[in-house]
Amino acid sequence: MLLPSFLRLSLILLSSRVWAYPAGNEERDLVPTRTTEAVARAAPPNCFPALGFTMPSSVPSSLTNWWCDRATEYAFVGFSYEVTDCQSLSQLRTDFKNIRNTFKGRYIRMYGFCDNDGFYNNVVQAAWEAGIGVHALIWFGFDGTDEWIGRRDALFGILHSNPKAKFVTRVLQFGSEPLYDNVLSASSLAAQVTAAKANLSSLQIPVTISEMAYGYQERSSSQKVMDAIDLIDAHMLPFFSTEASTVANNSWPIVLTDLDWFVDNGEGKKIYLSENGWPSVTSSGVQPNSPSAVANVQNEHVVLIPTVVNAL
Ligand SMILES: *[C@@H]1O[C@H](CO)[C@@H](O)[C@H](O)[C@H]1NC(C)=O
Ligand SMILES: *[C@@H]1O[C@H](CO)[C@@H](O)[C@H](O)[C@H]1NC(C)=O
Repeated sequence: MLLPSFLRLSLILLSSRVWAYPAGNEERDLVPTRTTEAVARAAPPNCFPALGFTMPSSVPSSLTNWWCDRATEYAFVGFSYEVTDCQSLSQLRTDFKNIRNTFKGRYIRMYGFCDNDGFYNNVVQAAWEAGIGVHALIWFGFDGTDEWIGRRDALFGILHSNPKAKFVTRVLQFGSEPLYDNVLSASSLAAQVTAAKANLSSLQIPVTISEMAYGYQERSSSQKVMDAIDLIDAHMLPFFSTEASTVANNSWPIVLTDLDWFVDNGEGKKIYLSENGWPSVTSSGVQPNSPSAVANVQNEHVVLIPTVVNAL
């Protein structure tokens, strides 16, 4: 794979990136209509960030009974949301409420970076007001620089100092694709995950990396990372598969192959598909590994819809 090129593509994919969440192996096999009916009949769970949950007027005193049980979270849960524009608080409010109200999203997963002082305070505030959870991200960049260290320290500072932060931050991610980019050795990355878990333990914020199956597969010590993370945030990008076909709607088997890898190797950890889709445009630096893979809006559509529908 062309290393720098791949990651630039993530930006292009972003606006259409959806989190679909196929649960563990059992839940994936449920008949979709029956699942939907069962959920529709049940009262909305009284937990954050369930649809129908009413945000409290003040910050609760503890996290007890706050988060929804992860086992109840599946299917479409929200969008990746790029923050590299350093959106204003009012823009974050508008976007998050739109994700919540128009698309019934329960989460955003951060992508990219904004190094403005205190930016994550605005993310927390907008998420609290919209009633959505956040998969926060420490951006590693694509070329091995060390800005991630300052970003980590700044984010940890806000997670500890902002009283609302632990109520909306579902997980902290190292990303995007730190194994694939080889910013740190897999062993050092695992050590960072472990240190972050210790740092955030009083806030009960779990830690993971955001990564493709391929990223784990190509690094010999990645087992240490898999052992360390609390849950799996997986990237599903069939455009880059050598098996990618002219008919983009043949992508589901490619997604399943990677998903099965995570099911087989993920130690039973919860799996979210945190980065999905197919690009609508490409560039000289962003090329597929199969000559048949074509970047266009139609293919973007036919890959995304089955991914979401099959994930139900
Ligand atoms: C967590 O990490 C931050 C930034 O690295 C540090 O300033 C803080 O002291 C750490 N807190 C704990 C409880 O480890
Ligand atoms: C896939 O796309 C082809 C060509 O557009 C279409 O004929 C076929 O019905 C599609 N299959 C599915 C499962 O959507």
